Amino acid sequence: MSFRLQPTPPARPNRCQLFGPGSNTKLFAKMAASAADVINLDLEDSVAPSDKDSARANVIEAINTVDWGNKTLSVRINGLDTPYWYRDVVDVLEQAGDRLNQIMIPKVGCAADVYAVDALVTAIERAKGRTKPISFEVIIESAAGIAHVEEIAASSPRMAAMSLGAADFAASMGMQTTGIGGTQANYYMLHGDTRHYSDPWHWAQTAIVAACRTHGVLPVDGPFGDFSDDEGYRAQARRSATLGMVGKWAIHPKQIALANEVFTPSEETVAEAREILAAMEEAKARGEGATVYKGRLVDIASIKQAEVIVRQSEMIAAA
Ligand code: COA
Ligand code: MG
Repeated sequence: MSFRLQPTPPARPNRCQLFGPGSNTKLFAKMAASAADVINLDLEDSVAPSDKDSARANVIEAINTVDWGNKTLSVRINGLDTPYWYRDVVDVLEQAGDRLNQIMIPKVGCAADVYAVDALVTAIERAKGRTKPISFEVIIESAAGIAHVEEIAASSPRMAAMSLGAADFAASMGMQTTGIGGTQANYYMLHGDTRHYSDPWHWAQTAIVAACRTHGVLPVDGPFGDFSDDEGYRAQARRSATLGMVGKWAIHPKQIALANEVFTPSEETVAEAREILAAMEEAKARGEGATVYKGRLVDIASIKQAEVIVRQSEMIAAA
């Protein structure tokens, strides 16, 4: 380990973030009753410009009146390039009670974007005597966002989570696709006549995971647009979990169970991790730093890998 230790991210389940437009009030109670760990009430791109004011009022009322249980409750504000965002922050923080946990800032391009929102949020918290600090989550969904991903992860002590937003990201990068996440038909290698599909989101995901892990922020995979394709969602989510992400968005309720399934370590995975820890305990008792488990090398690094899985499973079970 470096002399500078890696901070731990917030110890909260973040397997599924369920989105719903702030303009669609009939969804709020259904969202609250869902099995998602995080609720994102949206004021941004799922709300038409003519509905921005009414959506903001709906969201404030929903925060104050709906029973959100023990979910993390977040509002996605509009981007800093719009005329809406400051009123989103001011009205929501002045009028919504302490039940609100988090603000999601979309299209963050540099640390100063987060700084600006932090300054406004801090002033309102002090003026209103809010005692429960609001945390931040951001979406990396532009070329600037990915280019400045580390300074964004380090931008504020409020930073709790960071998501990859595939659709806006693809547009900003000039990617030739209209798909929201998942396999892209033209992204393949040829081996003989056989096409091997590669993952165009991979590098952005790993950049986000590295920035997040360096600064104690939860890395999250964003939306998967084709909500009729369960296997496609599962495959994307499994890749994200393998890379170190802790959860994924749901833009339709049928995606919630899929996210919870993939991002909850399975019983077999946890049992194997515990067996590795036990094997290493026995090795340590024999004065050895490495041993063999099911025909493979396990060593002191394996303890850390196994502990990631056991800790994640215990944290989810305790929530
Ligand atoms: N949260 C909770 N419940 C939802 C929901 C959501 N996001 N989206 C749909 N439902 C409910 C519907 O109300 C319906 O309930 P019912 O069985 O009681 O009638 C049920 O789930 C099935 O919905 P369905 O008819 O398949 O979908 P739809 O046509 O009503 O809505 C979308 C489809 C995509 C428009 C809708 O899911 C949606 O608005 N998703 C979120 C979009 C969003 O927030 N985008 C921003 C982030 S990318
Ligand atoms: Mg977006």
